[in-house]
Amino acid sequence: MIKLSISLLAATALLMFNACSDSSQTKKEEATTYKYNNAQVYENMCVNCHGKQGEGVAELDKNGKPKGPALNKQEIYELKLAITDIKNGGLNQSSGTDHEIMEHNYKAIKKKGMDYDTDSMAEYIYNTFNINK
Ligand code: HEC
Repeated sequence: MIKLSISLLAATALLMFNACSDSSQTKKEEATTYKYNNAQVYENMCVNCHGKQGEGVAELDKNGKPKGPALNKQEIYELKLAITDIKNGGLNQSSGTDHEIMEHNYKAIKKKGMDYDTDSMAEYIYNTFNINK
């Protein structure tokens, strides 16, 4: 029984791996069509709320809430999940996250022509700002 579950797990992991590599390939093709690179988008669209080093901005907004949480401690998979969830407008139910403010922000960001690829933006933030790696 244990053996069976282990091989099932392995099979699932393999399937997931395949699915991931497939989607990242199509994502890469899409990424080439974005007008600005991740650094440009972050500098222009994210810095005011998430800070120059992704350290977050504790200063309160007009609703009395911190402007933006730190993005420099999340693991790469957490960032990917969150950013994908934001871009999908919360349709990615399985992540169980609540990103209402960011979903609203994202629409404004997209309107300004500053769209981005979710996985590569997550990688950019992780590689540039993460303090635990
Ligand atoms: C006007 C302020 C503001 C701007 C601009 C902004 N954010 Fe956010 N962001 C927030 C707030 C507030 C939250 C927390 C609440 C939420 O997720 O809705 C958040 C949450 C997030 C999260 C989820 C963090 C977590 O741990 O779940 C990510 C990832 C993120 N933002 C990325 C970005 C990126 C990338 C940009 C630029 C393209 C950006 N944000 C621009 C205010 C902002």
